[in-house]
Amino acid sequence: MKGIILAGGLGTRLLPCTRVTNKHLLPVYDKPMIYYPLGTLVHAGIKEILIVSGKGHAGHFLELLGDGRDFGVKLSYTVQEDPGGIAQALGLAEDFADEGRIVVILGDNIVEDDIKDYIDNFEKQDKGAKLFLKEVPDPERFGVAEVRDGKIISIEEKPKQPKSNFAAIGIYMYDDKVFDVIKTLKPSVRGELEITDVNNFYVNQGIATYEILKGFWSDAGKFESLARASDFVRQKERPAA
Ligand code: DAU
Repeated sequence: MKGIILAGGLGTRLLPCTRVTNKHLLPVYDKPMIYYPLGTLVHAGIKEILIVSGKGHAGHFLELLGDGRDFGVKLSYTVQEDPGGIAQALGLAEDFADEGRIVVILGDNIVEDDIKDYIDNFEKQDKGAKLFLKEVPDPERFGVAEVRDGKIISIEEKPKQPKSNFAAIGIYMYDDKVFDVIKTLKPSVRGELEITDVNNFYVNQGIATYEILKGFWSDAGKFESLARASDFVRQKERPAA
């Protein structure tokens, strides 16, 4: 399976830092943010990875990560010209995916779990998608999954009154139909093609499985969550400090 890291968007929630660099190049403790989603894919044994970056500072990703040989993988790059949403960014990966299954990770998601077994399970799945949930105290900040009898029955993007505490986190596994689904999407009220709409397509077809993450998870897209992610990495790497 090939991997895709989505690192577009404007990073406005991290201004003024993101005025002079890309959000995914900011440090999470001792490494640039993008090292973490990259590490998640590398540890899971994914060998070919596409990075979709935004326009600002796009060349810095190449300077930082090169062709991927330092990580034992082959890296490719493309640019999302305007931040039209996560699903739009994913749509740019159609040629790269080459009709195969893909694992997608958001460039600001810091994930402790080893996802290798989840990938193996998804490869055995007949078709569809696999989504990932984590119980959080502030679900209204995320896509929120309503789960019943071992199935996701709906996902709502940033609901005011969440139906559960399960955030749909930024790892997604899809079959080759995902690009057809993206082509049917209409922009949401915030003017973006939403990954939640892609996921709800699979949920409504009854072909979305899910896993609940066991370890730490955070996004790092706001100063609060960036600090939380940095603290987690610091404590994990330097437990005695
Ligand atoms: O972190 C998990 C959450 O990520 C999910 O629970 C939500 O369902 C999902 O919509 C997303 O919510 P956010 O509001 O946190 O997404 P954000 O706009 O911060 O974008 C997250 C990453 O997606 C960002 O680091 C890069 C990528 N992205 C985003 C946009 C808007 C792109 O590559 N292109 C884009 O146009």
